[in-house]
Amino acid sequence: MLAPKTIRPAMLRATRGTRVLARLPAVARPMQRMAASAYSTQRTTGFDPSVKTAMDKQTPPEPGSDFRVVIVGAGNINFGSDEGPWNHSFRLEHKLGPRLKVVALIDPSAERARDVLKTKCQSFVLSAYKDTIVYPDFKSYLESVTEENRPHAIWVGSPPAFRGSTEPGRNLEQLLTDGLPGVPLFIEKPVATGDVDQAFAVADMLKKSGNLVSVGYMLRYLKVVQKMKQIIAENHLRVMAINARYIMAYEHTAKLDWWDKSKNPGPIVEQATHFCDLARYFGGEADLSSVVAHSLEHYEPAGRLSKIPVDESLIAPENRIPRVTCATWKFDTGAVGSLTHAVALQGTDYSTELDVYADGYSLRLVDPYNNPMLYIRRPGDDHEEVVRYNDDDPFFSEVSNLIDCIEKGEGTSPILSSYEDAVKTYALTWAIRRASERSARSPPPS
Ligand SMILES: NC(=O)c1ccc[n+]([C@@H]2O[C@H](COP(=O)([O-])OP(=O)(O)OC[C@H]3O[C@@H](n4cnc5c(N)ncnc54)[C@H](O)[C@@H]3O)[C@@H](O)[C@H]2O)c1
Repeated sequence: MLAPKTIRPAMLRATRGTRVLARLPAVARPMQRMAASAYSTQRTTGFDPSVKTAMDKQTPPEPGSDFRVVIVGAGNINFGSDEGPWNHSFRLEHKLGPRLKVVALIDPSAERARDVLKTKCQSFVLSAYKDTIVYPDFKSYLESVTEENRPHAIWVGSPPAFRGSTEPGRNLEQLLTDGLPGVPLFIEKPVATGDVDQAFAVADMLKKSGNLVSVGYMLRYLKVVQKMKQIIAENHLRVMAINARYIMAYEHTAKLDWWDKSKNPGPIVEQATHFCDLARYFGGEADLSSVVAHSLEHYEPAGRLSKIPVDESLIAPENRIPRVTCATWKFDTGAVGSLTHAVALQGTDYSTELDVYADGYSLRLVDPYNNPMLYIRRPGDDHEEVVRYNDDDPFFSEVSNLIDCIEKGEGTSPILSSYEDAVKTYALTWAIRRASERSARSPPPS
């Protein structure tokens, strides 16, 4: 469980039903390619709010030559679930139409892979999946590759524990780039679960290999987020403070492993990573040595939760996740960042917000998952202007932009999260987790 449970229906409703409350000037395209570094992206201004990113607003894709994709992971991110609006295969189908040919689905769970393929083959997207072969691992797939069936892209949505490292068994990126040099990669967040240095080593390796890589920090593609970037760039603002708040509704989070930080890197590295990433997107590089954090642990009086849907006693006490993590840090610019993550709400909707402050300005991004709204306060006005956009789908934008870059050349559409940049977000999330663990109160003697 990674983000609001209800985000799929709510967000899809929102993208169709909302209206633009403030009409905004369109800025000439094409967008500059957003560079990997958040600091340099601060200067990017290209953004066209009128571009339709909802799938039902796209011009139907035309027939043409096959576009061959290998999908790694037959789980929720690639094939959808009730937990949220993510579903990469659905977006690939809408982007590529009859050209999409999924040549391989790699997943050690053959049953899960066959199940998702069966569903696809019973629908109108049959042509994309009727010849898909299921492989248990990348090595066995590689043996089948010829010049004729070489993929145009590899879509990686396997658990992060199996990638983002140079260690055998966790070195998927190395296998991919050695086996299929130059093939563009889409890789889900977080980029790893292990050592941060190893993830940086993978980033170096990918830079050297020259593969085009896009990482799934999809909130960067939201129009409201791009609007914030535009305001900052056009007004030459220096961000002074960023305040991120991610309060999850825990009542339906029924995966035992999610509550166990020995099985899962925990709520900051897994979940709040999207907000740490946005904080870096607006604030630039974080000074990791400055991170301080506190947690509320399960054994403290205020940390008792009444509606945990799993039997937490099955998890060793030292591996149970914190209920609250509050962190602050400095950015290299001197700006201050802060994050509050809490496992506190019941019901289904999360409460999430990111505030960015600069001289004379407040930019408040509210509910980016369900119903993204931007509240803008400008110099000379005490009131907030409210902006929201119809027809936005950041998941479609990230898929569409990578395909455009593959087909029409790098830079055609912005890739907003590079691998190296994503590793820097990964490093920030670990710095927060570690800082909170260092300052945690000891459990009472048993
Ligand atoms: N951007 C988002 O909002 C978002 C949303 C959901 C998930 N995610 C990310 O997507 C990734 C996958 O999450 P999920 O929810 O789909 O998980 P999941 O558990 O639903 O599915 C993972 C799938 O990968 C398979 N798998 C396990 N080991 C594998 C390996 N070595 N190679 C290939 N496949 C393997 C599993 O059998 C399973 O079918 C995670 O990194 C997660 O953080 C991102």
